[in-house]
This record gives sequence, structure tokens and C-alpha cells, in this order.
Amino acid sequence: MASVPSLASTVQQRLADALSAALPEAGAADPLLRRSDRADFQANGILALAKKLKGNPRELATKVVGALSADDVLKEVEVSGPGFLNVTVSDRAIVDTLAARAADDRLGVPYAEEPGTTVIDYAQPNVAKEMHVGHLRSAVIGDAMVQILEFAGEKVIRRHHIGDWGTQFGMLIQYLIEHPHELDHKADTDDTQTSGEEAMSNLNRLYKASRALFDSDEEFKARSRDRVVLLQSGDPETMRLWQRFVDESKIYFYSVFNKLDMEIHDPDVVGESGYNDMLDETCRLLEESGVAVSSEGALCVFFDDVKGPDGKPVPLIVRKSNGGYGYAATDLSAIRDRVQNLGANTLLYVVDARQSLHFKMVFETARRAGWLGDDVKAVQLAFGTVLGKDGKPFKTREGETVRLVDLLDEAIERASAVVREKSESLPEAERLTEEEIAERGAQVGIGAIKYADLSTSASRDYKFDLDQMVSLNGDTSVYLQYAYARVRSIVRKSGDAKPVAHPELELAPAERALGLHLDRFGETLTEVAASYEPHKLAAYLYQLASLYTTFYAECPVLKAPTPEQVENRLFLCDLTARTLRQGMALLGIRTPERL
Ligand code: ARG
Repeated sequence: MASVPSLASTVQQRLADALSAALPEAGAADPLLRRSDRADFQANGILALAKKLKGNPRELATKVVGALSADDVLKEVEVSGPGFLNVTVSDRAIVDTLAARAADDRLGVPYAEEPGTTVIDYAQPNVAKEMHVGHLRSAVIGDAMVQILEFAGEKVIRRHHIGDWGTQFGMLIQYLIEHPHELDHKADTDDTQTSGEEAMSNLNRLYKASRALFDSDEEFKARSRDRVVLLQSGDPETMRLWQRFVDESKIYFYSVFNKLDMEIHDPDVVGESGYNDMLDETCRLLEESGVAVSSEGALCVFFDDVKGPDGKPVPLIVRKSNGGYGYAATDLSAIRDRVQNLGANTLLYVVDARQSLHFKMVFETARRAGWLGDDVKAVQLAFGTVLGKDGKPFKTREGETVRLVDLLDEAIERASAVVREKSESLPEAERLTEEEIAERGAQVGIGAIKYADLSTSASRDYKFDLDQMVSLNGDTSVYLQYAYARVRSIVRKSGDAKPVAHPELELAPAERALGLHLDRFGETLTEVAASYEPHKLAAYLYQLASLYTTFYAECPVLKAPTPEQVENRLFLCDLTARTLRQGMALLGIRTPERL
């Protein structure tokens, strides 16, 4: 399987060679190639160079053009404006390059030059609590990054840092001891969805009841506090009950992830409690090295640039004055584990932007302690808030957080309606069966939610608007899924004609535009993997579908003038379908063959 250099990189190389041949005094100058509306590419590196060499840019540009050796990639290179080069590549070069991509399973996409090990912390709900839209974002963005990085050849280790520890477990466990059947399942079922729902409704009920008792009954409160002590000392019976809460919650989490069409593996779920054994040592090391100091009984780390509204420094508290460890101690221990034991060179955290200060302080502390060396990168892929249609943080009318499962169900329902309506507009023989409508409805509905999240830059807030998300027009997954299904249907209807590349043919403008965009898939993925910006992949795919739509309107495929053109257009269709499918898969979105 060979990676295929993009036309952009080939052109860049040719121009760089011509530059150093024509202007040896320039050294290894960058021609600065970019896409252009005027031609296929434009190079404007000569402008800066002319300044440096104190020459006339147009003259230098003309010299560079003269030094270009004739070949079959460059069709035309012309000097324009103050000294730009406008580059048009040959039709043959486009089709040849695409044919090389089509011959490769990976569509010619290169592997990363120096792949490393990335530990990615994502999809981290909390035990005994309902999942909400914030957990959705982490899961969707995290899962896309896992796929994209793995495709680039990176070794990816997944960590679901679930909230499975804390003083609230004293109250929950004590309540369960006093009401032993509260977590029992009534329905006897193997169905993931049903048992997931039941697990969560049990946990919810238990949470509310124990909280009410805790707030109203002083004696229960005292018993709960004693229970926390037993939990922290590892008392076996208490631990057994704590484990029940974790297991029960996992049944629920897995049912939601399953509905989200996302694979989560048990060994990757290493929650806060997974680092309990390291907490003492983490604090001791911080104290011994002087990174943390004792302040008002707590163990703290201070930062010059982190101050509260009153101007007083706000420390990172690693151990509270009552001796308890918090979120920060756990995260610091997790860093030690991930770097020292898992061998990570990159730590990626897909977490709400509202936790950015926490991560800034945690990373800085780990650097001072020497746990994060210069060779290890720590990044928070911080995401914004999900807003309701009113532009305020997404809540129910009663002001409660919206249950994630309800949203997913609603999306699936809406999407099924869209799929059904579209199917009913088809001739009888082509309509989908009820079963197909249900299956596609789920794929379209979940795809819609994922795509809406992934198509805006993660750092920005976005409005959760189901009407818009399942719309057939505009920048939605449904639009892309329909584009895919349309391409596939043409290929299916092609009879004896096969997709074959014909580099000898002249291309129509819409074919060239589509072809040049197909050639950019690899570059786009490389960029997205390096910058952790899956929205750029979404934008690429949307543009691909749009260019395909134009191509389809302007260039008849099966009715093209010559058999060679039919084959060549089918070839473009086929490569478009494969690229769409691969790209969508990396975003975690299905592309049904028929819709
Ligand atoms: N469970 C946390 C929450 O629901 C997110 C955990 C993020 N990861 C971490 N290593 N702190 O907000």
C-alpha cells in the first residue's frame, strides 16, 4: 500500500526546485503554494524573496518559470500581479493521481511520519448520575479523534476517566445497606437498551431518596459519614457495594454508547478510583520537591498568573485540609501513570472548556514536578457549551438538564420520519421496508447529532436544534448520507460499464474541481490529526458532496458522450463514494448504501 503524494506537494516540489535553480542565492526558499480561484494553485513566495534579494519580483518570477523543466504535471505556469505564479496542472496529472489513490485501500493517505503514543481521555460520565449533553460532546469528539489518529498510524490508548469516587458514595452505599433491593432489576431481559434504562432509573431513584434522607435525618447523615471512612479504608463489604454502583452505572453507560453507535471497551474504563493507590505518593513527591506547599492545612500549588477576583492567588488544592484527596490529585496521578506506565508522548483531554483552568494548573504542576517532560505534549481539546434554541445553556422547560437518551431517541424519531417521507416519494419498487426505515432512521438520527457537534469548531458553543440537524439541505450529515447513497445508486445502475480511469481524456471544469478536491483528502486528514480539529474534516466532506452535486448536474455519467467518458466519470463517482465513506467513518457516522 503506497501513499500517494498530492498534486499540491508535487507542484510545491517542482517550484522549489526551479526556485533554487533560478536563484541559487535564495537558498531553500519556500514557494508558498496555496489553492486559488484564478488557477489550480498560486505561489506567492517570490514576493518575500524579492524583498530579501532586493530584486524585482516579476522579473524573478519570470526567471523561475524559465527554470521549470517541462513535464506532464504542470500545464501552465504564468506570472501574475506583482509577482505571483498561477499554476494550472494537466488533466492527465489529476486523473493519474486519482487512479493511484483508487488503487490503494487507504486512498493513498500517508501515515504520520513519526507516530507516537497518544492517551486520549474522553467519554467520562459520572457513576450514579444521568449523562447529559456535555458527556455527549466529549464522547463524539473523542471518538472521532481516536479514529483519525489511529488512521494516521498513531498508537492510541483510550481512557474513560469516569467519576466513580467521592464522599457521595458514603450516602449511597449506606442507603443501599438499609434498603437492600433498590438496585434489583425487575425486567428479566438481555436487551441492552431496556436494562440500561432500568439501571439508570434505579440509580436515579436511589440517589434522590438517599439525598433526601441525608438532608433531613441527622442520624443517617452520621452513618453516611462513617461509611465514607469505611470506603476509604477499603472495608470489603463497603467496597462490594460501591462496586455494585459502578457496575450498575456501566450497564447504563454502555447502553447509551451503544445507542450512539460507539464502541467502549471495559479495560479502557479507568475511573478516578483507579488512581487511589497513587494519591499518597503523588502528594509526598509534590511536597518533597517543594512544588506543593502547605497552606491553611491544605496541600496547595500556587501560580503567579492565577488569581481570584480579589487579587489573591487561587491555588490548585491537591489535598484538602481534612486530609481528603480531590479531582486534582487524581488527575496528577493519572498523568504519572499515563506517561510512566503507558508510555504516552501525547496526553489529549476531551473535556468541557469550563475545566480549562483546572487543566492549565494540573499540566503546569506536572511539568514542575518533572512528570511531564519536554518530550511529552499535554493538550486539552476543550469544547464549548451546548445551547438551547434560545441561546442559553440547554435545559428542559423545568430548568433541569436534558437527559441524553431522550435527545437521542428524539433525533432517531425525527430522522426516521425524514427517511420515511423520502422513501414514500419513490416508485413503489424502490421504497424501503419498515425494518430498513428503522435501521436507517437510527443511522441518520445518530449521524445528525454527531455531525452537528463535529461540524462546528469544538471550542465554540453550538445550538442544539434537531430541525436543522435532520434537514436534507445544508451542512448536515443527512445531506452527506444522501449524496453517498446517490453516488452508490449510479454505480449500481451502471450495468456493464466499469469505473476506469482514462488519463487521456480532457476534463470538464466540474470534473477538474471534483478531482482536485478528492486529491486533498490525505492533506486534510494530516492537518486534522495534527491540530485536533475534526470540524475541518467535516467541512472537507461537505465540500466534496457539494462539488459532486455540481459535477452530477453538469456532467451526465451513464449518458456521457463516449464509453471512455462513461468509465472515467464512473471512476470519479466511485472514488467520491469511497472518500465520503472513509471520511464519515472517521467521524463515527454510517453511510447506508441506500436511503
Ligand atoms: N467526569 C468529569 C465530568 O463529568 C470529566 C472527567 C474529565 N477527565 C479528567 N481526567 N478530569 O465533568
